[in-house]
Amino acid sequence: MTRVKFWGHAFCSLEEKEQILAFDPFYPQGKIPESFFPTLILVTHAHGDHLGEALNLSVRTGSPVLGTFELAEYLKEKGASTIDGNFGGKIAFPFGWVKIVPAVHTSTSPDGKALGNPCGFLLKFFDRIFYHAGDTALFSDMALLKNEGEIFCAFLPIGGHYTMDPNEALEAVKLIEPQIVVPIHYNTFPLIRQDPLLFKKKVEVETKTRVFILEPGEEVDI
Ligand code: NI
Ligand code: MN
Repeated sequence: MTRVKFWGHAFCSLEEKEQILAFDPFYPQGKIPESFFPTLILVTHAHGDHLGEALNLSVRTGSPVLGTFELAEYLKEKGASTIDGNFGGKIAFPFGWVKIVPAVHTSTSPDGKALGNPCGFLLKFFDRIFYHAGDTALFSDMALLKNEGEIFCAFLPIGGHYTMDPNEALEAVKLIEPQIVVPIHYNTFPLIRQDPLLFKKKVEVETKTRVFILEPGEEVDI
């Protein structure tokens, strides 16, 4: 059983057996409570709505931030504990492994530094595979992700404008074939307003995937 929490925007966490993973810890509701103690912080790219409180979280908890080389170096210079990686390799962790996978997007820090390429994360979390896509357009190589094994749960952006919209995310679901999709990166601000129920309906009519719509702050044991 994994406890999955959708904090809001692209910020999600996975928790099982003392391992707590935080993805893209930008918390639209305010400041992340001090009771939240992730053991690993994964950041897909340097945009402020993903980097969020990664630096503060790492400094407060001593837990590392995992990101691509340029992003990890940037955070290390600012005082974070970091693990750098790059595309293609698997990085071993007590819960399994994380593979840094492509995302079609850009990655500039809030203070204007171009920090390499953005990414997504494919990970084996205990006995199941999860995928956090980060910010991305639809791309056909998403079909390769399942070469590592069936994907149990995928976090996919549906907001449009900066990322896939619901129609493209539906195509992504057809390429990835996960058991569950959790839509992210929508309705945080007006430019990315979408109806997740419409997305859910289309996905569940056209594919075998189930869509879990989580409200910001909602968690589910799966
Ligand atoms: Ni972005
Ligand atoms: Mn974003």
